[in-house]
Amino acid sequence: MASANIKVRVFRFDPSVDKQPRYEDYQVPFQAGMSAMDALDYIYQNLDSTLAYYDHAGCALGICGRCTGRINGKPGLLCQTIIAGDVTLEPLSAAVVLKDLVVKTGQ
Ligand code: FES
Repeated sequence: MASANIKVRVFRFDPSVDKQPRYEDYQVPFQAGMSAMDALDYIYQNLDSTLAYYDHAGCALGICGRCTGRINGKPGLLCQTIIAGDVTLEPLSAAVVLKDLVVKTGQ
């Protein structure tokens, strides 16, 4: 059975070239039990390789905390948050964004 798509809205911002943040929508095949990180992986691997997020730089196990962001407005770990439908993914704060969902840490 073919899976239905969900809309994944992602915060996009490259402070070195963009005047202000924007959101980009992607259609992602829904899989039961998929995490927000799984959706980002699909986008990066199939739709838009310019997307910046913590993937291989993080643990993907809920340990390192590097993938902390906002999922539908609520703080959480992207690698541990199971999504159930359309979702909006953002960094915790636009003020510390290096690019898209990658933020400055340790300050
Ligand atoms: S990538 Fe380490 S907690 Fe999510």
